[in-house]
Amino acid sequence: MSTYKISKLQVTNFRNLNPDIITFSPGINCILGENGNGKTNILEAINVLATKKSFRKNTSFPQFLSIDGGKPEIIFSSVFSNQDNEIQSYTSKMTNDSILWFVDGTPVKKRLDIKVVFINPFDSYGFHNNASDRREWLDYFLSQLDDQYKKSLSKYTLALRFRNTLLNKKPSRFKEQILAGDVELSQLSFFLTKKRVEFLEALEPLLGETFQSLFSEKHNLKINLDSRIIGMSVENIQKLFANNIETDSDRGHTSYGPHKDDYVLLFDGLNSFDFCSLGQQKMSYLSLLFAYIELFRYKYMSYPIVLIDDVSGELDQHRWRRLVEYLEKREFQVLITTANEKFKEELDRISGANNIHIKNGSLIP
Ligand SMILES: Nc1ncnc2c1ncn2[C@@H]1O[C@H](COP(=O)(O)OP(=O)(O)O)[C@@H](O)[C@H]1O
Ligand SMILES: [Mg+2]
Repeated sequence: MSTYKISKLQVTNFRNLNPDIITFSPGINCILGENGNGKTNILEAINVLATKKSFRKNTSFPQFLSIDGGKPEIIFSSVFSNQDNEIQSYTSKMTNDSILWFVDGTPVKKRLDIKVVFINPFDSYGFHNNASDRREWLDYFLSQLDDQYKKSLSKYTLALRFRNTLLNKKPSRFKEQILAGDVELSQLSFFLTKKRVEFLEALEPLLGETFQSLFSEKHNLKINLDSRIIGMSVENIQKLFANNIETDSDRGHTSYGPHKDDYVLLFDGLNSFDFCSLGQQKMSYLSLLFAYIELFRYKYMSYPIVLIDDVSGELDQHRWRRLVEYLEKREFQVLITTANEKFKEELDRISGANNIHIKNGSLIP
């Protein structure tokens, strides 16, 4: 498995960005500029190049394409290096209905598996308030670490969609069809739940440790999976699905399963959503992401690219300082944006950081 660092990027027709060649260092990169000039767009371009998707919800090609006209095609040209310092050029051409990839100029069927972690403390709000955000969070990061999980999750989603269509449309003999499909659905539910529990167990020892190294406060942090099917056998999960078939049929959808399961973040044993201040929630959320990054390292022996957007508005100065000190001690590649002058001063203190200044979508020297 290769993990990558980005060394150059040039985008054509992506949002407000001009096709300047942006050069990144393998360590800390600070992207600076006033609001609305294109800082987040640079992070988004890297996220799209790496994953095909934005970190913004309901955003795809039509939103990415520059409104300034021209050909409806976005081109990402980039240079990446892997952990053995091998350099590869990587180009992606995106239109409304196709994406093509080229490595060192040669078309490839599969895109490079570039792992990124996007961090925005503002997302802490969604994480603490919406079960669906928590599920998405866990599914995204667990999929990044575990290909089997990713594959099983897409199978589960397909099987569930089929089951829900049957429950909704109720064609003749739909219950028999559902019961037949529930065999696979139960096996997948068992597997996904097992993987989730293992993931949370692996994350747990890193959570409090990370919180302490980030903010020098000692707290007990833990995430629990809240699921009816934990510890159940495949057969019992299948029975649970079968027992609920009448309710499900009234509701027109499947009321139990991994798609409904939730997570609770416990801060010193208390539900962080109910008991933590917004600041503590943000700190816990950041600790969770950095703990994940450490887990990533245990698994792959190297790091993902870490994209950090606009932390300054969300944390106080003392905490940014701690965060910057934390980042300085890490070996991962970081791209961090800010429009805040005070936070910029903090970033300026980092020796060897690469500063990228952006105005109206263009690099300024
Ligand atoms: N599809 C697009 N085409 C052209 N400009 C866009 C597009 N989408 C967003 N923008 C512009 O990008 C700018 C926002 O960039 P952003 O990276 O979010 O700024 P910031 O530096 O504050 O992070 C705004 O000026 C917005 O009008
Ligand atoms: Mg921004």
